[in-house]
Amino acid sequence: MTLAELEIAQAESLKEIAAAADAAAVESLRVKYVGRNGSIPALIKAMKDVPREERPAFGKAVQAWRAAVEAALAEKGGGTAAGEQAVDADLTLPGRWWNLGVKHPLTRVIEESAAIFGRLGFTVADGPELETPFNNFTALNTPPHHPSQDRSDTFWFGDDCLLRTQTSPVQIRTMLANKPPIRVICPGRTYRRDTTDATHSANFHQIEGLYVDTMDKPVSLADLKSVLAYFAREMMGDGVTVRFRPHFFPFTEPSVEVDFTCHVCKGRGCNVCKQSGWIEVAGAGMVDPRVFRHVGYDPESVSGYAFGFGVERIAMIKYGIPDIRWLYENDVRFLSQLG
Ligand code: PHE
Repeated sequence: MTLAELEIAQAESLKEIAAAADAAAVESLRVKYVGRNGSIPALIKAMKDVPREERPAFGKAVQAWRAAVEAALAEKGGGTAAGEQAVDADLTLPGRWWNLGVKHPLTRVIEESAAIFGRLGFTVADGPELETPFNNFTALNTPPHHPSQDRSDTFWFGDDCLLRTQTSPVQIRTMLANKPPIRVICPGRTYRRDTTDATHSANFHQIEGLYVDTMDKPVSLADLKSVLAYFAREMMGDGVTVRFRPHFFPFTEPSVEVDFTCHVCKGRGCNVCKQSGWIEVAGAGMVDPRVFRHVGYDPESVSGYAFGFGVERIAMIKYGIPDIRWLYENDVRFLSQLG
């Protein structure tokens, strides 16, 4: 090939590249001119046959051709991986689907309860899961011979430390640290030596409530009932109300167990409430004077109520969960249904 022929070949190749209609055409021109067996590498291989005195000029011309072809290919987006992708992307493919997470039902019940009681002026108090027997039992007027203090009912660590069996010790901590008026709820984890079955777990959650005020605003059982009735409606829906049944707790007097009307049958009787129309959800009562004395309050100048309900209980009846263990297995197929 003479220098003149080379010039013509170069012009021809650039025209072809400029006219290439798609990525495949650009690629085949790349192979044709600069590919391993393309015409430009072939010319370089054939340099040895060019007369010695013409070689420098010829070599320069071949290199210039190669540079021109590569620049033309690059401009067409040919030869580079990015260019190939841009041309091949299928913009009609559906996008990727990301699942949004949901809050755990126990977290939702706790947060909703805090919001409901928050509207009534209650703030959230907190306490440790490892407690002293004083806070968990003694100050709550629960004597050493009471069955709940038994080694078989409570997780003890020596004689002076235990896993709290209820959230009620947070009442004691709150009263020891504050003067009335007190209006708190205390959500948290609690522990009992229960064997775990469909409705019991050795580790569960409670929400404690405590309201104490001075005698210029005496607190009554009727106040307690109205607050729990409001909570029942807000949490379970319109038409749900409460009833009190006489009961005994060492730290309240009088004491009651609290039932909600069944939110499914609205009290008519169904499988969820075992045909009774009522579902037990909480313990409650007026704070016992002995408890006030233990925290240094004068029982003659303060009065108050306390309540405590099971978070699992509320979650199970609210969402229709038949087995408490589902709440701890964290199976996403179950949890995602409650979003
Ligand atoms: N602590 C009690 C329980 O775990 C519930 C309760 C709380 C009862 C506050 C009365 C007042 O059963």
